[in-house]
Amino acid sequence: MTDALDPADMREQYRTKELTAADLAPDPIGQFASWFKETAASPAIHEPNAMVVSTATPDGRPSSRTVLLKHYDDAGFVFFTNYGSRKGTELTANPQVALLFPWHPLARQVLVTGRAVRTGREETAAYFRTRPHGSQLGAWASEQSSVIASREELLTRYEELAARYPASEQVPVPPEWGGFRVVPETVEFWQGHENRLHDRLRYVRDGESWRVERLAP
Ligand SMILES: Cc1cc2nc3c(=O)[nH]c(=O)nc-3n(C[C@H](O)[C@H](O)[C@H](O)COP(=O)(O)O)c2cc1C
Repeated sequence: MTDALDPADMREQYRTKELTAADLAPDPIGQFASWFKETAASPAIHEPNAMVVSTATPDGRPSSRTVLLKHYDDAGFVFFTNYGSRKGTELTANPQVALLFPWHPLARQVLVTGRAVRTGREETAAYFRTRPHGSQLGAWASEQSSVIASREELLTRYEELAARYPASEQVPVPPEWGGFRVVPETVEFWQGHENRLHDRLRYVRDGESWRVERLAP
């Protein structure tokens, strides 16, 4: 370990403009839209729609993984996955969920907490049809999160499916595959500043509207 890199020596000073409640959109989705646009325009950020989804078992054992945001609007944030996966089974048993958008090169992060609900089959099918043929087959080929004997097993399954559904044919939506919509209860916009005096503004759902509170960094 003598030449190991020591993370304790790594320090960044964030130089950004301050963020006040007056700068924010009236609702968190509008604010997210504005930051998401800025993030997508930044060459420093690859896959601005990549987010960390945290779930937990009913007895509180947490787990996290990255997924891609595929849609958002006033109803919430949507991603697609396998319902039989670890996250799928955890969300089915316990819909409490957290999302994290790690936009580090901009000294920003967005944190969402809420409840996950499954998207309808129509919405799932509409999205599935937009996926490339190979990804459609991949969704069938992988029983996500189960233990497999080898990579060969996965490739063999994929080849079998490719023979069954040639590129000219419509691939049906796998029954265990679909979307989750995260209906937000809180959405925090975090922006880094010098001397660790960061801005943290959190929207909290208040009936039909939202209130904004500032949190200590
Ligand atoms: C950049 C990136 C994007 C990903 N997007 C998705 C996605 O949209 N849906 C998905 O099910 N898994 C996605 N994955 C894979 C997940 O991180 C994870 O390995 C998989 O969903 C199984 O997670 P689970 O066993 O915790 O359920 C992505 C991984 C990375 C690194």
